[in-house]
Amino acid sequence: MTLRIRAPCHSDLRTLSLSFPRPKCRTGSEAEWCMKMLGVTIRRLDRKRLGRYLPDLCLIDGKAFPNNAWHEENFSCGRPKKLELSLIVLHRRRTVGYLIASRYGRARAHIHRFVVAHNFRRRGIGTRLLRRFEEKCSEMRIAEITLESTRSRYGANRFYDRMGFLQISGSKLVMYLTRRGKRSLRRRYSGLFPSGHVVVYSK
Ligand SMILES: CC(C)(COP(=O)(O)OP(=O)(O)OC[C@H]1O[C@@H](n2cnc3c(N)ncnc32)[C@H](O)[C@@H]1OP(=O)(O)O)[C@@H](O)C(=O)NCCC(=O)NCCS
Repeated sequence: MTLRIRAPCHSDLRTLSLSFPRPKCRTGSEAEWCMKMLGVTIRRLDRKRLGRYLPDLCLIDGKAFPNNAWHEENFSCGRPKKLELSLIVLHRRRTVGYLIASRYGRARAHIHRFVVAHNFRRRGIGTRLLRRFEEKCSEMRIAEITLESTRSRYGANRFYDRMGFLQISGSKLVMYLTRRGKRSLRRRYSGLFPSGHVVVYSK
C-alpha cells in the first residue's frame, strides 16, 4: 500500500476539506516525520516575522475565536519575553499555526494563544509546537506553564490532557488569579465556581 500525503494549500485557510490519508502522529518522532512530510516548519516569532505574518495571524485567530479575536495590537503589544517565547508555524511562507506566550516572574510562562489553522489540525502540528515551546521553557529554566481554556473547547481540552496538563482549582487557582490580577473575575473559573466556564491548565 502506498501512503500519499499532500499538504493542504493556502486558499485552504478558508475552504479546503482534506482528502489525503491522515498519518498518526502520536509520538515525538512521528510528529517530526509528519511535519517533514507536510513541509511545515516552526520558527521563533521574532519582530520581523511578526510584521510580515500579522495579517495571517489575525485571520487565523478570527476563525479560531470568532467572539474574541485578537487584533494586530494584541499580537504586537509587549509582555516580558513575549517575542523570545512565541513561535510560528509556516507552510510555504504562510502561517498555519502559532503559540503566543509570555514569561511571568523568573520561573513561569503563560500561553495566551495557541492555534493551528483549521485545515492543518490533527496532523501532529499542535503536539510538535507545544513540545518545541516546552523545550524553550526548560532551556530558560521556566518551571511552570499555565494557560486558560473554556469547558466547551472539548478538542483543545482533550489535547491538553494528552499533553500532560492538569486543571487547577482551589487555592492553587486563587494564587494563579492573584498573580495575574484576575481575582475579581473568579466567578468565571470553573475550578472555583461550578457555573464558571473558564478552566486553567498547568504543567
Ligand atoms: C488545540 C489545537 C492547537 C491542537 O492542534 P493540532 O495540530 O490539531 O493537535 P495534534 O494534531 O497534535 O493533536 C494531538 C492529539 O490531541 C487530541 N486532539 C486534538 N484536537 C482534537 C479535537 N478537535 N478533538 C478531540 N481530540 C483532539 C487528539 O488526541 C490528537 O491525537 P489524534 O489526532 O491522534 O487523535 C487545535 O485544535 C486548535 O487550534 N484549536 C482551536 C484553537 C484552540 O481552541 N486553541 C486552544 C485555546 S485554549
